[in-house]
Amino acid sequence: MNILLLGSGGRECAIAWKLSQSPRLGELFIAPGNAGMALYGTLVPIKPMDFAAVGEFALANAIDMVVVGSEDPLVAGIVDHFKSDEQLCHVLMVGPSAAGAQLEGSKDFAKGFMLRHGIPTAQYLSVTHDNLTEGLRFLEQQQSPYVLKADGLAAGKGVLIINDLDEAKRELSAMLDGKFGKSSATVVIEQFLKGIECSVFVVTDGKDYRLLPVAKDYKRIGEGDTGLNTGGMGSVSPVSFADEAFMEKVRTRIIEPTIAGLQAEALPYCGFIFFGLINVGGDPLVIEYNVRMGDPETESVMPRLQSDLIDLLEAAATGHVADVEVAIDPRYAVTVMMVSGGYPGSYPKGKVITGLNDVADSIVFHAGTALDSEGNLVTNGGRVLAVTSYGTTQAEALERSFQSVQRIHFDGKYYRRDIGFDLMHNA
Ligand code: AMP
Ligand code: GLY
Repeated sequence: MNILLLGSGGRECAIAWKLSQSPRLGELFIAPGNAGMALYGTLVPIKPMDFAAVGEFALANAIDMVVVGSEDPLVAGIVDHFKSDEQLCHVLMVGPSAAGAQLEGSKDFAKGFMLRHGIPTAQYLSVTHDNLTEGLRFLEQQQSPYVLKADGLAAGKGVLIINDLDEAKRELSAMLDGKFGKSSATVVIEQFLKGIECSVFVVTDGKDYRLLPVAKDYKRIGEGDTGLNTGGMGSVSPVSFADEAFMEKVRTRIIEPTIAGLQAEALPYCGFIFFGLINVGGDPLVIEYNVRMGDPETESVMPRLQSDLIDLLEAAATGHVADVEVAIDPRYAVTVMMVSGGYPGSYPKGKVITGLNDVADSIVFHAGTALDSEGNLVTNGGRVLAVTSYGTTQAEALERSFQSVQRIHFDGKYYRRDIGFDLMHNA
């Protein structure tokens, strides 16, 4: 099977790594990919948002299946673009239609969907300029901290958590006035939930689903979960508190009602659903839906997936998920992200990366890397490399990732040493 994978981050690198292990893989093309992904497939200089170019490439290269890594093309309708084109409609698409992708593309839609289907989530009110007064009153009724979310996609930056009520009110107005462009023309105000988060992933064909390994990501730049938010500083899988009893609640209260809701509302959906959950006193609530895999969770999830990824994704795209089994590696996987000094603020690019050949016990997924004009591997983003290791305990997996991280060098490299610490007491 010839596959076109869209994306260029650590997540797509992990997906490419896994696809490349399948005996069923014909050619793998990655658009646009990054320097590290060239190990697994052919890089194609096409932007995932250029649907016409993606379609032409798929036709010219006898692509059988397209795997969409990130949310933007899905929310913008890449699946619909393929399905509505006579020449392209035979291509299997892993990802929801634009209608299904609203689960991530509109927080207002997602909250309404959860309300309609009785799926546990924080109380909320959606606010526009038209009901600002009601919004301000709703804020007054909440307890600090106050949670404000831009309705639309905002490159992971559209959620504000604010301690002070007056500041929250000012921010609400600023958001409605365009702080995040059109994305915040509607703002969802939410009750703040206190608990510990985890990321649950399923592959679905819109009727049935299979669970992938549960993971947890670490978003803040600083150890002890302090400092600015990032695209993710590391991840672990499995998650100690996501035991059988918790996962039974997740299945019956969240996953199954979500898939039933998609069917009831005739929202075509196949591919990944990423449930961003919070454990509040043993009960899971949905913080957010995403319509793709997580980054950097994928870098610890894919290594634990023993089953063939092509079988699973093909089953999702053809409506046969009920026929496939998913086997999971019982070991822990821990991912440590190596980032550029200065990130998530401004940071330099083009720093030469050395030492990759000295890594023995880890898998290194590339996120922001490139080759310079002399063919050196160099940094090309804030998040540079995701270093994943297995262990029979979480501590062992973490230790192996640290050993590897210390062998890899580039000027200004930074990483967190406490990935998974909050879960460690019983892992
Ligand atoms: P997002 O950018 O949508 O991933 O949200 C960023 C983060 O904000 C989430 O991962 C949570 O840590 C936090 N968050 C979002 N909504 C809530 C909420 N209702 N209560 C507490 N924390 C939240
Ligand atoms: N790791 C969170 C996300 O991918 O959105």
